[in-house]
Amino acid sequence: MVARAMKQSPTKPRNREESRTHFGYREVAEGDKQGLVNEVFAKVAERYDMMNDLMSAGLHRAWKAAMVDWLAPPKSGREYRVLDVAGGTGDIAFRIVAAAGRGARVTVCDINEAMLAVGRARAVKGGHDHACRFVTGNAEDLPFPDKSFDAYTIAFGIRNVTHIERALAEAYRVLKPGGRFLCLEFSTVDLPGLDALYDAYSFTAIPAIGKAVTGDGAAYRYLVESIRKFPDQGKFARMIADAGLARVSHRSLSGGIVALHSGWRI
Ligand SMILES: C[S@@+](CC[C@H](N)C(=O)[O-])C[C@H]1O[C@@H](n2cnc3c(N)ncnc32)[C@H](O)[C@@H]1O
Repeated sequence: MVARAMKQSPTKPRNREESRTHFGYREVAEGDKQGLVNEVFAKVAERYDMMNDLMSAGLHRAWKAAMVDWLAPPKSGREYRVLDVAGGTGDIAFRIVAAAGRGARVTVCDINEAMLAVGRARAVKGGHDHACRFVTGNAEDLPFPDKSFDAYTIAFGIRNVTHIERALAEAYRVLKPGGRFLCLEFSTVDLPGLDALYDAYSFTAIPAIGKAVTGDGAAYRYLVESIRKFPDQGKFARMIADAGLARVSHRSLSGGIVALHSGWRI
């Protein structure tokens, strides 16, 4: 499968004026964030899928199923090209292939080779390799031509990128006119009472489970903190519309723990 070599950390010259961004609750230089994110996923790649089940008590499966339901890939067998960005170990891609007709082809694009390596092995084991390819690439600078996909999906990925607006502009660029954008991401809890419970669980249980299973509590603390820094449902919907996507709508799942955002290139 084709894979484009990517720099894992930017090499731009630094100066004192360099913009700052957040890495979880830490403020870091913009040029440092992607490298720090890459370290997190390189460390957890081998146990990433098991940890998803443990940390969400299996709920991530229902959220991903809801995403693919809303995508509603065609069952007719017509050609249907999907780009799953930050696709990691391939969960969304395999679900799309299973739900779609024979014409579905999913490109999994991720910046992290360790995550993609797990994905490639899972594709072979699950018999999905005829319909999936794995490509190294940055969501902010996708290695694909304009107007080349019928759908762009991204699950639990966009909060990790340094410049969300650049990733959204790239989503718009690679979609064909009539193409669909669909994002699954942690969001803002909008159910009274659930927020306090969710905070307690996230900040204590998740890093503790992460430390027990992977030996690295810090990586999981980053995951929790990055969730809290991500824009809420309404603000993220406006960012998607600002990128040029139309008919933007969203659905909260599990009281807003996660949200699906949909848009169209028209
Ligand atoms: C939480 S995982 C999600 C994986 C998969 N989509 C899922 O739902 O199971 C986040 C993924 O985003 C990837 N990622 C982080 N920054 C990225 C970037 N700038 N471009 C592409 N992928 C990125 C990470 O390498 C990691 O595989």
